[in-house]
Amino acid sequence: MTSHPKFDPSARVMLGPGPSMTHPRVMRALSAPTVGHLDPELLALYAEEQDLLRTLFQTQNEWTFALSGTGTSSMEAALVNLVEPGDEVLIAIHGYFGERLADIAGRVGGKVDRITRPLGEIFTVEEIESALKQKKYKLFAIVHAETSTGAEQLHIKEIADLAHQYGALFLLDTVTSLGNIPLKVDEWNVDAAYSASQKGLGAPAGLAPITIGPLAQSKIENRKSPVASFCLDLKAYANYWMGAHAYHHTASANLHYALTEGLRVIVEEGLEDTFARLRGNSEMLWLGLEEMDMPPFIPLEYRLPPLTTARVPAGVDPHQVRARLLNEYNIEIAAGFGALKDKVWRIGLMGYSSRRENVTLLLGALRELLK
Ligand SMILES: Cc1ncc(COP(=O)(O)O)c(C=O)c1O
Repeated sequence: MTSHPKFDPSARVMLGPGPSMTHPRVMRALSAPTVGHLDPELLALYAEEQDLLRTLFQTQNEWTFALSGTGTSSMEAALVNLVEPGDEVLIAIHGYFGERLADIAGRVGGKVDRITRPLGEIFTVEEIESALKQKKYKLFAIVHAETSTGAEQLHIKEIADLAHQYGALFLLDTVTSLGNIPLKVDEWNVDAAYSASQKGLGAPAGLAPITIGPLAQSKIENRKSPVASFCLDLKAYANYWMGAHAYHHTASANLHYALTEGLRVIVEEGLEDTFARLRGNSEMLWLGLEEMDMPPFIPLEYRLPPLTTARVPAGVDPHQVRARLLNEYNIEIAAGFGALKDKVWRIGLMGYSSRRENVTLLLGALRELLK
């Protein structure tokens, strides 16, 4: 008989850019018996999951469901369904994930133009308008909450209205915003938005919520060319979730139990109360960081509560501190991105990770390590 080494992962305090900690109720939901992907009990759960997702996205969109895969899958799903080969696409990039949007938009056949802001900045409405005027774009996309920098792109409604005025559909990355900060898909006239289960929703990675509004749905239904991905074909998804419930792929029932439970937790707490808790805990973190001379890098006006970039004090090796936090305190935080790699740490307070005791623990650990 072969013996296998025991795998016993540590119960980390997850304070990075995601995944955040899985809520205990979600953990219990995960371990319920597996049913088939066409089982009537799972299909009934889908109806509830859709309603909960609509509440979180603040939308009435019929096409609102969770894809199998991570945030990158829902990003790719939005682009491969909404962009036809040769379509002019404009992407506004204020961090790493905007660049990923542009990369995928090109891979699916779009003719991509980029506008960029330096890391840590956001766009003004005027900058976006002057770019939208340049050509007749079919799609404009931007990231709402840039996890690589901790900046929130403001004025989303004005930006969506401009995109429409110039004839483009408006796609919004809400991977780090859904469940963490206010997001109003219908009120802001967002045509399509996508997210992931592992940041604001208290669930593990593996599912990727998406919502498609009427204009975007009509674009997909009237495509001249077939969607170049079988896995991510949203018409097939809609048919599996809502129509004939036709087999498309073997979705993971257990992950859907988990995500639905995570969504219930948020709706039970209330959206506004959830956002207020997140903001309160992050404000406590910001104050503590300022007291230790490592102030947040992003100005308060557009600083994201779920993701703080904290300046590394002079003379401190950020990577050694991160390693010691993990090894000695069981706390995960992340390094900065790109040009900010050695200048900041990225500290996430998202979903179930955003608890007062976690803030106290992290600040205490940093105080000990840096004294
Ligand atoms: C803003 C943003 N978009 C997209 C992604 C990609 O999601 P995933 O890593 O789940 O594929 C991430 C992941 O961190 C993200 O923060």
